[in-house]
Amino acid sequence: MYTKKIENIIEGLTFDDVLVIPSRSSIEPKESDIKSKFSRHISLNTPVSSAPMDTVTEAEMAVAMSRYGGIGIIHRNISRNEQASLVRKVKREESIIIRNVHTVDPSTPIEVVRNIMETKKINGLPVVSGEKIVGIVTKRDLEFATRAMNTVSDVMVKDVIYASDNITLEEAREILYKNRIEKLPLVDDKKKVVGLITSKDITTRHKFPEATRDEEGQLMVGASVGPFDIDRAIMLEKEGADVIVIDTAHAHNSNVIESIKKMRKVISADIVAGNIATGEAAEDIISLDIDGLRVGIGPGSICTTRVVAGIGVPQISAIANVASVAAKSNIPVIADGGIRFSGDIVKAMAAGADTVMLGSLLAGTEESPGNEIIINGRKYKSYRGMGSIGAMQKGSDRYGKFSGSKFVAEGVEGAVPYRGKVEEVLFQLMGGLKSGMGYSGSRNIQELKNGTRFIRVTANGLRENHPHDIRIMTEPPNYQTFYP
Ligand code: XMP
Repeated sequence: MYTKKIENIIEGLTFDDVLVIPSRSSIEPKESDIKSKFSRHISLNTPVSSAPMDTVTEAEMAVAMSRYGGIGIIHRNISRNEQASLVRKVKREESIIIRNVHTVDPSTPIEVVRNIMETKKINGLPVVSGEKIVGIVTKRDLEFATRAMNTVSDVMVKDVIYASDNITLEEAREILYKNRIEKLPLVDDKKKVVGLITSKDITTRHKFPEATRDEEGQLMVGASVGPFDIDRAIMLEKEGADVIVIDTAHAHNSNVIESIKKMRKVISADIVAGNIATGEAAEDIISLDIDGLRVGIGPGSICTTRVVAGIGVPQISAIANVASVAAKSNIPVIADGGIRFSGDIVKAMAAGADTVMLGSLLAGTEESPGNEIIINGRKYKSYRGMGSIGAMQKGSDRYGKFSGSKFVAEGVEGAVPYRGKVEEVLFQLMGGLKSGMGYSGSRNIQELKNGTRFIRVTANGLRENHPHDIRIMTEPPNYQTFYP
């Protein structure tokens, strides 16, 4: 029987084992459409997410990812209150329509208004009588107030310009511009203030045309939760998380499956579940009515799962296993871990992934948590596995904790080269993806997934793939190999 096991062994392939075969193409790289689905209800113009790891994604990273068309998943190695406040920070970063609008009454003393403006950092407040809008008071109005003026009614602008709540952002922009005003209150049919649009937020929106936004124009953000932490998931959804990522090293586990069932009943935001690496796991998890699958057992740059536990599936095979099943139900697949170059993104998608999740490639950016470190005159940033001793001592429970304070690590701690801003990294990665789409004649991600073929690479082929017979004197931004 054991001999049979060996005879029937299946082959697993990873990024370096394959290349996508070029084919006749009638598109230029810049014409390719890289829009793709992260989860059932979330589309990304840049098909990349940042990993929920404590050296990768907090609010600053999530804001940058979302502004440039991807999405950030806030890590869970902090209290649920802290995590919720990071989600709130991202959601409030660019609220095109402010919903809980502060208002004042015409009889409010000017000093009180000044105080509200200073403490809440607001420049203008709609004035309401009962619930009805009757004016607006701005910082400028207060600056010109004389001693004789005591209350809001003395200084407010009475012929306030407002608009109906169902106005489009384009219409709002026109009104703001035409009237040279900063703030536009939105009202319902009883003239009750139900929102506020500011010109500053509209301008920001134009600055980031690719951004991943919700219906209200706020940046989208994801948050990770442990498989059994339903209370955390509820709290994060309440704070505005657009997707809950159930974050476990092995989602194909009966207890996890039972808990996902419970979570689905109380969470209406998208749920992404993982990690998994087989078609059977995909089958079982999809049946729980989730909205996306995260694939990868052990491919990550900081992972030691495969050597510690002897378990895993090489990543290209894992993606193909899961995507073959997911395609039948149209569930998006996220290729998570092991991506070192833009070419790996092309390969992941040709194997069936809809988007990719990055740890190492983003951990070195300005927007990741932590400061730069100088080693031998070169800049780095810290990066560690969520199953590393350091991360587990801080509370991470994604990997083996068998007793009290003793851990069995499945990850390492280290540093990755500093890579500048997220925007620059994504620009290089998406440039590579588009180039791959040009070579393979793929107009969009669907064509890259379904219309391409792989060729196997030998050890000699792999050597040929990389620059050879040269000492590199100037590293391009998309090919860094130097690790001391
Ligand atoms: P990359 O290669 O992008 O991988 O750095 C990021 C992904 O690695 C996973 N991850 C881990 N896997 N031990 C593991 O076996 C760990 O300590 C660990 N920490 C993170 C995770 O899926 C992440 O998105």
